[in-house]
Amino acid sequence: MGTDAGHHDGSADPAALLDLAVRAASAAADLVHRRRPDRLDVGSKSSATDLVTQMDRAAEDLVRRTLLSERPDDSVVGEEGGTADAVGTSGVTWWVDPIDGTTNYVYDHPGYAVSVAAEVDGRTVAGAVADPTHDRTYGASAGSGAWCAPGDGTDASTRALLRIPSPPPLERALVATGFSYDSLRRAEQGRVVAGLLPRVRDLRRMGAAALDLCSVAAGRVDAYYESGLQHWDLAAGALIAAEAGATVTSPAGGGTAGSVLVAHPDLVAELDALLTELGAT
Ligand code: IPD
Ligand code: CA
Repeated sequence: MGTDAGHHDGSADPAALLDLAVRAASAAADLVHRRRPDRLDVGSKSSATDLVTQMDRAAEDLVRRTLLSERPDDSVVGEEGGTADAVGTSGVTWWVDPIDGTTNYVYDHPGYAVSVAAEVDGRTVAGAVADPTHDRTYGASAGSGAWCAPGDGTDASTRALLRIPSPPPLERALVATGFSYDSLRRAEQGRVVAGLLPRVRDLRRMGAAALDLCSVAAGRVDAYYESGLQHWDLAAGALIAAEAGATVTSPAGGGTAGSVLVAHPDLVAELDALLTELGAT
């Protein structure tokens, strides 16, 4: 993933990477939200329900240009443009989801986001998630905590530190999840949900993984799990949740790529055991 320690140029300071991530994510969020065209060109990707619009592509172009104009030696991997710019030599790789929650965006349903994360030596060190329909931005850098700010998040004085609250017992936990675009995997996920629903307070399916992770960080849900995600869905939000005090793992003890389970450390083991019992992987 473009991690050649010998070529680090010394400028991979997490605070500076976060500042750039925030500016890139919020500029793209502003583009998709405020310049939403009257007519969206809606196409499909991995399945008929996996959507892409001209605004996903325009937002990703803007993020790539913003990142590479300031840091031309970095690599960029994005949901729409793939690895075309993954040739950098600096050791920094950016992971970009230009619109996480494209289905919400297509339906003009609140709750989509631009997610931008910086990775060094395989570890996410900075991440920003811009949430234009709620007019707020989340950010975190490794070891320095997570925050949420009104608007574009560029004014550091408006950033409120996030600390996840003590969780309720599992049977009173509000749990977020999401579903794959693959119908067979959805059927499996539906079976897990059917078993989980009577064992917790309630479930939420909001439609943007990056925001689900930020919602755990902000205490707006008690936990979030999903499988079949891509790294660009997760990278920034997982750092934000972890820096807010959540345990970030995956069902059945962790380590499954694209699977995530995020909750307060006092809740995560019990929820993991239940999800594992129900067959979530
Ligand atoms: C999707 C959203 C959704 C999640 C899917 C993702 P996209 O991303 O995050 O909430 O359930 O697994 O693929 O396609 O809107 O960028
Ligand atoms: Ca996504």
